[in-house]
Amino acid sequence: MSARGRFWMMLLLVLFALEVIDHGALASGRGLLQNTNLGGGGGICSAAVEPHGYKCQEFQVTTEDGYILKMIRIPEGRTAGGGGGNRPPVLLQHGVLVDGVTWLLNSPEQSLATILADGGFDVWISNTRGTRFSRNHLHLHSSYPEYWDWTWDDLVSQDLPAVVGLVFQHTGGQKLHYVGHSLGTLIALASFSQGKLVDKVRSAVLLSPVAYLSHMTTALGVVAARAFIGEITTIFGLSEFNPTEKAVANFLRALCAGSGIDCYDLMTAFTGKNCCLNASTVQLFLQNEPQSTATKNLVHLAQTVRGGILSKFDYGNANANMAHYGESRPPVYDLSKIPRDLPLFFSYGGQDALSDTMDVATLLDSLKLHDVGKLHVQYVKEYAHADFILGVTAKDIVYNQIVAFFRNQN
Ligand SMILES: *[C@@H]1O[C@H](CO)[C@@H](O)[C@H](O)[C@H]1NC(C)=O
Repeated sequence: MSARGRFWMMLLLVLFALEVIDHGALASGRGLLQNTNLGGGGGICSAAVEPHGYKCQEFQVTTEDGYILKMIRIPEGRTAGGGGGNRPPVLLQHGVLVDGVTWLLNSPEQSLATILADGGFDVWISNTRGTRFSRNHLHLHSSYPEYWDWTWDDLVSQDLPAVVGLVFQHTGGQKLHYVGHSLGTLIALASFSQGKLVDKVRSAVLLSPVAYLSHMTTALGVVAARAFIGEITTIFGLSEFNPTEKAVANFLRALCAGSGIDCYDLMTAFTGKNCCLNASTVQLFLQNEPQSTATKNLVHLAQTVRGGILSKFDYGNANANMAHYGESRPPVYDLSKIPRDLPLFFSYGGQDALSDTMDVATLLDSLKLHDVGKLHVQYVKEYAHADFILGVTAKDIVYNQIVAFFRNQN
């Protein structure tokens, strides 16, 4: 079966798995962290940051195409302002199907956001369009299909410039350090390759880097079928893809039942065998995620898997592409065009089923002319996709290196 079919099956099945595991949490009220009721106006600051003794500020920024995005800022460490002086800004950008809360689910001593704040950085966390805190728009309600007419191309052209611009504006025009995980790496690399943001970014850390996806394979691949692509867009249209919705869950449940796959171990089958997750943190994760995304965004990711090259969304025929791009084929993102003196730190895992080591090799090959001193690559043999965000050993293995890398840029 095709790589595209495999991708869909893996994605759908993991979402189903999340839904299954999440069932108890859903029944008992799904919300931000344990007990905070979002309807009461609580946000990430009051639920996940302030209780640990950190200052926290909430911001919003509107993209040029009207999406209103919420951000939070942890301006300093717990030992109020210690060290004084300048606090370099850092922006944390999450991946697809999750939101910014995922940076804050472990203890403050273990979570990257608070480690950076305590390490003297001014920490900003974004939430991309369509996730629970960033569902407002100047004119479109999120129940309209038009609201969901976007892919990661639009995160490159709209969301990233907006959030980076906001941080830049509030920090006296300082260049910021960027940290992306998963899709948060792809949109940054695509931006840099177009020469975007590079005037506002001092350095970038790419965790579980995702750019090429051709080798993404897992045990679930065996049940994939090309037919499902047509089926999913027929059933759900090109609008919201909400993994927690009943229609999606029922569809996935039926799919899973017919597959002969053990649906209770799909998180492993999809993301790889995470070595170092805390069971309580995973529970917290499942009470807060997954988040919606645009079905069109998933179709675009599926195109990336199939195509083996990184290009803008393919409208499927020459005329439609011509109408959108003035070319019969979607324009390509050429990662070899990333400025060679931009400091980059990659960290990837040997057990990661999404950011496959062969695809990372392709990505690094496209950077083979990068200035030697500006390219740092860390390989963590035992890590899978979620370990980079939630791993209890991540501070020692990865985050201390990130802090050192940032300090070296100043
Ligand atoms: C796992 O999380 C719980 C709850 O936050 C915490 O008490 C415990 O110390 C954590 N375990 C490890 C190994 O970090």
